[in-house]
Amino acid sequence: MSHNYHGFVGLVTPKPQQGRSVTTMPKTERLIANATGIARAATLLRGGGLVAFPTETVYGLGADATDDRAVARIFAAKGRPQFNPLIVHVASVDQARAIGVFNETAEQLAQAFWPGALTLVLPLRANAGIAPLVSAGLPSIAIRVPDHALAQDLLRQVGKPIAAPSANPSGKISPTNAQHVFTGLDGLIEAVLDGGPCPVGLESTIVGLKDGPTLLRPGGLPAEAIEACLGASLARDEGETLTAPGQMASHYAPDASIRLNANTARPGELHIGFGGTEGDLTLSTTGDLTEAAARLFHILHQANRTGKPIALAPVPDHGLGRAINDRLRRAAAPR
Ligand code: TXA
Ligand code: MG
Repeated sequence: MSHNYHGFVGLVTPKPQQGRSVTTMPKTERLIANATGIARAATLLRGGGLVAFPTETVYGLGADATDDRAVARIFAAKGRPQFNPLIVHVASVDQARAIGVFNETAEQLAQAFWPGALTLVLPLRANAGIAPLVSAGLPSIAIRVPDHALAQDLLRQVGKPIAAPSANPSGKISPTNAQHVFTGLDGLIEAVLDGGPCPVGLESTIVGLKDGPTLLRPGGLPAEAIEACLGASLARDEGETLTAPGQMASHYAPDASIRLNANTARPGELHIGFGGTEGDLTLSTTGDLTEAAARLFHILHQANRTGKPIALAPVPDHGLGRAINDRLRRAAAPR
């Protein structure tokens, strides 16, 4: 996990009231939609950088989905207070099959609608190498093949799956042109690949396949088209938001008990440290919140394997610390 972006990463997640530390911000490059621009975007992504790129739906904020730290930076740049799962973008159905487990229905929908504005939520392949932060620790993964020439070229050149939520600050409107991205994220990301306006202008339709095809989010591909393809109606599960504490809690809860804000461990406990608090395992010795976010799910899994009750050092509640604490509170919630 060593690349060129560590230097300023810590500085783009200050306490919100401190504002941006302008002198240390990367200058966000505007990349033209030609071979040079695409090559530059691919290089930045392969180096762990954040590059916004156009798809047919909206602009995505891309990062290498196999790079824990790059994915953590997405949440930092968006200022997201929670780690909700992200969509992985790939260039082909073959690449998608290497990441998700396709059943017959998934194959049918992929053949009919990819490339296109359809995202499929599938069981995650164990050894796909996807950073656990991408699926927010869930055993499933959201995948799509975008129908946009620039996005396709970029994905092929990068040669890796790209995690990309919409390229807007958390809670703001999704961007449908490059200027929208600059308005929201200038100085927080390495580059924007400018491909003009997005033809669909609405996020992809999300279909989950657990317990039969289910509409998880309506979007650019009408549900009716999917139902016509399947010859059956979709179950609807839009109300059940994926980040709802109730639903997510079970995925985060380790088998053993977990105690938060623990500066010291009690006998028998496994201590997870942060910053000045060393611990048996540590989220970040230097107190770097982006590193802590990148390591969070790895460390929780590792801690869980010891079978010991877990004590966690306090993590400051600003920047990515808010998302980390949100997850930890769920993990520690009584069950
Ligand atoms: O059109 C789009 O889908 C755009 C472009 C950039 O591709 N992307 C986008 O990503 O809208 P985002 O991060 O805003 O939406 C991700 C949503 C999550 O909020 C969640 O609803 C769903 O996808 N999702 C992701 N992973 C999931 C999973 N493992 N299980 C269930 N839902 C998941
Ligand atoms: Mg969004």
